[in-house]
Amino acid sequence: MAKISIGTIIVDEDNTPNPSDFNFVLTKSEEEFQLQKGMYIVVPTADGEVIGTISELYKTNRYFSSPSAVRAYETSGKTLASIFPADRWEHIIAKVKTLGIITEIGIQRLLFPVSPGDTVYIPEKDTLINFLGLEKTNGLNIGKIEQHDLDVNLNLTRLLQKHAAILAISGAGKSYTVSVLLEELLSRKAAQGRVGVVLFDVHGEYVGFGNEKSPFSKVVNIFPGALVQFATPAITARQFAIYEPQITPAQSRELFRTTGKFYKEKIRQGESYNIADIISELEKDEQINQRSKEALIGWLYNLDSTRLFGTAENPDLKKIIQPGKITIFDLSEFTSIKLKQMIVCYILYRIFDMRKKNEIPPTTIILEESHQFVPEARQELAISKSIVETIAREGRKFFTSLVLISQRPVKLSTTALSQCNTHIIMKLLNPYDLDFVGRSSEGIDRATLNSITALGVGEAIIVGNAVNHPIFVKVRKRKIKTLETQTLEESAINYGK
Ligand SMILES: Nc1ncnc2c1ncn2[C@@H]1O[C@H](COP(=O)(O)OP(=O)(O)O)[C@@H](O)[C@H]1O
Ligand SMILES: [Mg+2]
Repeated sequence: MAKISIGTIIVDEDNTPNPSDFNFVLTKSEEEFQLQKGMYIVVPTADGEVIGTISELYKTNRYFSSPSAVRAYETSGKTLASIFPADRWEHIIAKVKTLGIITEIGIQRLLFPVSPGDTVYIPEKDTLINFLGLEKTNGLNIGKIEQHDLDVNLNLTRLLQKHAAILAISGAGKSYTVSVLLEELLSRKAAQGRVGVVLFDVHGEYVGFGNEKSPFSKVVNIFPGALVQFATPAITARQFAIYEPQITPAQSRELFRTTGKFYKEKIRQGESYNIADIISELEKDEQINQRSKEALIGWLYNLDSTRLFGTAENPDLKKIIQPGKITIFDLSEFTSIKLKQMIVCYILYRIFDMRKKNEIPPTTIILEESHQFVPEARQELAISKSIVETIAREGRKFFTSLVLISQRPVKLSTTALSQCNTHIIMKLLNPYDLDFVGRSSEGIDRATLNSITALGVGEAIIVGNAVNHPIFVKVRKRKIKTLETQTLEESAINYGK
C-alpha cells in the first residue's frame, strides 16, 4: 500500500492536537476510502514521521448540531436535508492516539503536537513493519493486521529467546494459534535458525501433526505418555523429594548416600539402576533409623508404582530433541494430574540440564493448560511448579524458552507469568482474569484492555517483547488440519469402529 493522503488535522474542542492525541477530518469520500478503527496513520513532519492509531471515528454535521433548530424544521413537515445541502456538510472525524515518531536516530516518544492543517496519510507497509518491530520475510507468520492487509511476521528471537504466554478463554483459538506457530517453526530452513520444540499435549489435539498425510510427519515425533520412562540415575536425591514431597531432608540424605554408592559401583561401570535397586540397597543398610527407613522405602514404593521410573530414559531426550523437529508428548490418556506433572517435571529438568551442557539445540517448551503445572495457589501442590519457575527465571541464558498456555491467567503462577515477556491475548471474559492481564501485560492501555472481551475467535492482541507496540492480529488459517475435533454425531458414529 503506497502512502495515500486521507485527511487533514483539525483543531478540536478537546484541546487537540496535543502530543498524545489529535483529530483529523477525512478528506476523501467514504466511497473512496473506508477508514476503520484501529488503523495506523502517519503524519510527515520536519522532525520525522509521526505514527498513530485511530482510536475513535465519528460523524459530524453542523446542520444537525442545534437540537432546537432540527426539531423546529422537522416538525414543520419538511426535512432539513430538503431545505439545505445538509448531506454535503457531513464529515467523518477520526480521533488519533499518537504512538511515536520515526526520526533519523530511531523511534521516539512524541513530545510535541502535530500541526493543524497537516496532511494525514495511510503508512506504507515498510513504515509499519519498521515501526511495529516486525520482520519482512524471515519471521514467524502468524496472521495479519487486517485493516492494512499486513502480514505479521514475528522475529524468532524476540518471541522465543524470552518466554511467551497465550491467554484466553477456551474456544478462543489458543491451540489453533499454537499449531500455526508450530507450522512456522517447522517450516524454517536451517540458515534461518531452528529450535527444538517440545510440546505437552494434554488433550491429544496435536497428534494430527504426526499423521502420515501431514507435510510435517517427518519432523514430528508423537510420543504416548504411557511409554515415557525416567532414567532413575538421572534423578538426584533432592529431586526424589520433589516427586514425593513427604520424603524428609534426612531421608533425602540417606538416598543421596545410596545413589552416590550406585554412581561409583554401577554408572561408572556402564550399568544402570532403578527404584527397586535403591529399595533393596536401603533394606540392607544398617545405618539408617528403622522407622525413617521404612517410611522412605514406603515413599519409594509409591513412586515405583507409577511405573515411570526405569533404568533408561524413554524416549532418549538427547536424541529426540533436534533443531527444526518437534516432540509431542500426548498426555491425553492420563487422568491423574500428578502423573502428568511428574512427566513434565522430569522432562523439563532434563531439558534444562542438557541445555546447560549444550547437549541439545536451543529448545522451546510449549505447555498447554499451564495453570495445572505452575499454579499460583500454594495449597495446590504441583510437582512441576518449581522447575517451570526455574526455567522461567533462568531459561533465557541457556536458550530454553517457555510458551505457557492458559485459560485461567489468575490461576497461573505470577512468578512464571511475569517472566513471559510476550503475551498473546485472545478473548477473555472473566473480570479477574482481565484485571490480572491488565496488570501483568506491559504496555497495554485501558482501551486495548477493554477490547479483549470483544475479540472474535482467532483474534489476538500481541503485547510485549515480540513487538514495539501492542498489535491486533487475525491469526491465519493453518495449512494443515491438525486438531481433529469431531462432532458428537461423528464421535457416536465412529465409536467402536
Ligand atoms: N485462527 C483461526 N482461524 C480459523 N478458525 C479458528 C482459528 N482459531 C480458532 N479457530 C476455531 O476455533 C476452534 C477453537 O479453537 P482452539 O484453538 O481449540 O481454542 P482453545 O485452545 O483456545 O480452547 C477451533 O477448532 C477452530 O475451529
Ligand atoms: Mg486448547
